[in-house]
This record gives sequence, C-alpha cells and structure tokens, in this order.
Amino acid sequence: MLDTPKPKGDRYYGRTAEIYNRKRIKQKWWHIEHEEMRQLLEKLPRDLSVVDIPFGTGRFVPLYHDRGYSISGLEISGHMIEAARNDLGSQFDGCDVKIGSSIDIPFADQTFDLIVSTRFLSNIITYADACTSLAEFSRVTRRYGIIQLGHNVQTTAKPGPDQTMDTIMSREDVDKLLAEFGFRAIERRLVLEGPAEGGEMHHILCEKS
Ligand SMILES: C[S@@+](CC[C@H](N)C(=O)[O-])C[C@H]1O[C@@H](n2cnc3c(N)ncnc32)[C@H](O)[C@@H]1O
Repeated sequence: MLDTPKPKGDRYYGRTAEIYNRKRIKQKWWHIEHEEMRQLLEKLPRDLSVVDIPFGTGRFVPLYHDRGYSISGLEISGHMIEAARNDLGSQFDGCDVKIGSSIDIPFADQTFDLIVSTRFLSNIITYADACTSLAEFSRVTRRYGIIQLGHNVQTTAKPGPDQTMDTIMSREDVDKLLAEFGFRAIERRLVLEGPAEGGEMHHILCEKS
C-alpha cells in the first residue's frame, strides 16, 4: 500500500485558526484556487443556495455574495468560524454557519443547490470518512458540487480506510468514486501540481446525476 500523509483534521484550533488566512495568503495556489472558483461559479446560475464544508475562514464568501447566493457552512472548529467572523466582518452577517462534522451533516436532505468543498477530502480526513462525507454531501445537495480532489497522472492506488486519499488515485478512479455518490464530474480546474510525483489537485465541477 502506498504511504500518504496523516490526516490533519484536528489542527485547526487556537493560533492555527487565528493565523490561517495570514499564512495561506502567501501561497501561490491559494490565489489560483480563488480565481478558478470564481470562474466555475460564473458557469452556474445566480441566486443559488450554497453550503461550504468545511467552511474554514469562509474564504469564498465574497464570491458567493457576488453571485447573490444564500450562504451556509459547516465547520468542526469553532475557532475557525470565529476567524471567519473576524476576517469577513459584515460579509459574515447572514451566513448560516454551524459547528459540526461532515460525516453527519446537520442539514436536511436536498437543502442546497450547491456544495463547495476545498482543501478537505484529500488530506484532512481519512478515506473512510471522505466516503461518508461524500455520501452526506450528496444527501444535502440537489444540483451541483465543486469538490476539490487530487489524482495521479502516473499511477493509481486505492487508499486504505485509515489513510488519506492524497493524490494516489487515477483521474478515472476519482471520477468513479464521485459517480458512486451521485456526482458527475463535468469540468476540472488544476489548482496545484505535486507535492507527490504525478500528483495534481483540482476543483471539480460536478452535476448531481
Ligand atoms: C485546510 S482547512 C480548509 C478550510 C477551507 N475549506 C479552505 O479551503 O480554506 C480544513 C478544515 O477542515 C475542518 N475540519 C476537519 N475535520 C472536519 C470535519 N469532519 N467536518 C467539518 N470540518 C472539518 C478543520 O477544522 C479546518 O477548518
């Protein structure tokens, strides 16, 4: 079995939450992710309801406002939600952000038009939890997903249930996985190459099938 980095889901508290944006803003791919997200959202209708999981610091909230969306989020760390409130100021007002886990989403079936999930399924939680989260994403969403996942352009491997997915699966296997949970991948935007050899991260625009 290929090694993958350990899940990082329990780190986002205290000072890590406080300085999350300040650190990330120095990363080139943070800005690429933003621009690719902006372009993908422009392909979708205006005035959708979106849920962003994990909400983190609410980095895409200004883009959602530009599209006239009603905005919800789910995030396991109250400290990250606090950081979002501080960073976003009045843009946070009206966002319905709950504390909770992606493996048991506290929203009713088919509540949202769109689920957005970035920097999460590949590295923050295990493959087993990523699969449960995808099932939950699908349950609460009616129409679209923009889901960030990695794939490998050279090899393919299946992660063990306690491993992270990282970028070890092939693109075809990632598409099959999404399809198992009712998400048909219709467009990919490259946001990061590496760090593993042949690894790439993409925002994947999906339609519910
Ligand atoms: C790398 S950050 C990504 C945040 C945001 N989506 C972004 O792109 O900046 C990972 C986030 O996942 C949250 N998290 C970890 N496990 C979670 C879970 N099971 N359900 C919801 N949020 C979780 C962490 O608290 C952290 O805020």
